[in-house]
Amino acid sequence: MKNLFPFILCFFLFTGHLQANDGYKLWLDYQPIERSELHQTVSELFSGIFFFGKNPSHEAIKKELELASQGFLKQAPKYSADRFQTTQLWIGTRQELSQFLGLEHQAKIKALGEEGYWRGSIIHEGKSYYALIGNSPVSTLYASFDFLKSIQSNTFDKDTEKTDYPKIKLRMLNHWDNLDRTVERGYAGFSIWDWHRLPGYVDPRYIDYARANASLGINAVSLTNVNANAWILREDFVEKVKVLADLFRPYGIKVFLTARFSAPIEMGNLETADPLDEQVRSFWKERVDMIYEAIPDFGGFLVKANSEGQPGPHEYNRDHAEGANMLADALAPHGGIVIWRAFVYSHEIDEDRHKQANLEFEPLDGKFRDNVIVQVKNGAIDFQPREPFHPLFGAVKETNLGMEFQITQEYLGQATQLVYLGTMWEEILMDKTYRPKPSSTVARVIDGSDTEQNLTLMAGVSNIGTDRNWTGHLFGQANWYAFGQLAWDPDRSAAEISEEWIKLTFGQKPEIQAKIKEIMLASHEAAVNYMTPLGLHHLMGRSHHYGPGPWVEGGRADWTSLYYHRADSLGIGFDRTETGSGALNQYANEISKTWSDPKKTPEKFLLWFHHLPWDYQMQSGNTLWEEIGLHYDKGVKTAREMRSNWRELEKLVDSERFSHVDQLLGVQIEEAEWWRNSSLLYFQTFAKRPFPDSIEQPEGDLEFYKQQRFPFAPGIRPNW
Ligand code: GCU
Repeated sequence: MKNLFPFILCFFLFTGHLQANDGYKLWLDYQPIERSELHQTVSELFSGIFFFGKNPSHEAIKKELELASQGFLKQAPKYSADRFQTTQLWIGTRQELSQFLGLEHQAKIKALGEEGYWRGSIIHEGKSYYALIGNSPVSTLYASFDFLKSIQSNTFDKDTEKTDYPKIKLRMLNHWDNLDRTVERGYAGFSIWDWHRLPGYVDPRYIDYARANASLGINAVSLTNVNANAWILREDFVEKVKVLADLFRPYGIKVFLTARFSAPIEMGNLETADPLDEQVRSFWKERVDMIYEAIPDFGGFLVKANSEGQPGPHEYNRDHAEGANMLADALAPHGGIVIWRAFVYSHEIDEDRHKQANLEFEPLDGKFRDNVIVQVKNGAIDFQPREPFHPLFGAVKETNLGMEFQITQEYLGQATQLVYLGTMWEEILMDKTYRPKPSSTVARVIDGSDTEQNLTLMAGVSNIGTDRNWTGHLFGQANWYAFGQLAWDPDRSAAEISEEWIKLTFGQKPEIQAKIKEIMLASHEAAVNYMTPLGLHHLMGRSHHYGPGPWVEGGRADWTSLYYHRADSLGIGFDRTETGSGALNQYANEISKTWSDPKKTPEKFLLWFHHLPWDYQMQSGNTLWEEIGLHYDKGVKTAREMRSNWRELEKLVDSERFSHVDQLLGVQIEEAEWWRNSSLLYFQTFAKRPFPDSIEQPEGDLEFYKQQRFPFAPGIRPNW
């Protein structure tokens, strides 16, 4: 057995991406460099590294270079003792390297802002050095990650300089993690925050988490669920949070917590949480001071108030601005901020839920403190497979507005289905708002270029858990990755991001590239088709939000499926024009006027805004009923194609990841069929028309489909 060892070793060394791979390393899986020229260049650079100055982010860079060097070259990097002789690679901030940069060069780098960086070659006294230069230690880290990424994706060129900077200030993950380690809407195991064993035990995973985020430029994280537990503000918990904040600091990541509005009652023994009450104000001031004592760069609070039963200022007849400003005043002396969510909806309101956020927030424009950001979900309902953009974007002028995307696939097949969300987010970011400028898009509103806002934010509800591969479904990693890239630059193309992720995750082979890209780019449209085509929405089963439940009753107040699809013998869809709820009027005139005519409404949003007869004629010439059938059927067919495409990669991808994805695609096809069959059989009870001949005729018994199959789906919100 013993003398087989060298053969086994060689096998593992040379099979590269075919080695068993559990996905733990994410996109930071530094595989041996195959191209000899690149190998040579990188070996040289890694043979003489010199750091200018000393700071904790440099330690983080060192750690990364060590991992990368072991992966790329199978050897440790070498550091130089002096900056010239044996040195090849210079690393430091602009200030630290200033004597080697001409004035013009310095000005160019400086203009990129504190988080911007430059990398390229510098000639000094006849010798060329490659340099990674940031305007701050953290942006030097960003330069380093970008440098490593270019090597990993085989695009590194020593002679081409590269600059970059983030377009959005706060690029943030929101964990919906509870203190008992369950994760609301989390499908990848338990929370990675091991509160019980903190602060004494520090899981090495925390650092890998920080590395992954920093490699994308994510610079903020809120650790706890928006349905908050006040205990996180206790001193003993703050001690635990401090450990994480200290670990994340060199990676440029600030920690935020969720603040429960009723904390003054629950932990301060007060009788009220009225934001204008002096004792309440002092409670918050003291809590905040205590937190900053432990964590001097604490980010601030994320708050869900007066929504889905959460406490808030409305209990005291105060508005959102009064509630947010009270917390903002406590945080301001320390430079902290309040992120106040606009996801508000109650069970009582007798209105179209679509309208509630604009009704509550538009009148408050200009009333929020400068250190408040109102965080708005991408659409007005709730992270549906496809939603029109939220009408708050562009509607307010003097309020900092941030975007909230959901990375965890609550309504998009959870961790069972492969759905690449980059395309969906790109679609939303590119949507025209027509406000404040005629040319405005959602991206231009949230990156502040068309508004006056001084704080900008893109947040993503995390899909991370204790599963070995972090995200449950391997392709969930692509969504974490795409979120980070779009938060850095909302103008990036989702297709380009997918290419990059595939290279970093599966290597360079063009066949792999092409097939996986095809799968990823088709996946979102497929899910929309087999779940909620043509603007239908919220047809998922109650509470678990996974499988179909268009039949779920409960009356209007319960916001169940019937409320949203409104199918009857005459037709289907939600009339949000003036003859209906009027929600369409919350958009700019260019949209509300045009879309009030169904013929001028993009068909992907048709039933979102209109209730139309089953025989309504679509652009294709088909009736609405036929088109619904065709879309559901197409969704199923695309899911099948995704699997046959994947199967072509069997010999090219390691068997561990191949089988993981293959099995899940099998389940995805079954779920897609389940969605199509049950939804079409159900809608047929209203439409009373035959299915189009060209589709696979839905099989099965509606009563059977109506039995909920998923009572123990993970991530369900307790008591909901
Ligand atoms: C959805 C989700 C809840 C979550 C809520 C929110 O409704 O189902 O679990 O609490 O969004 O964003 O606050």
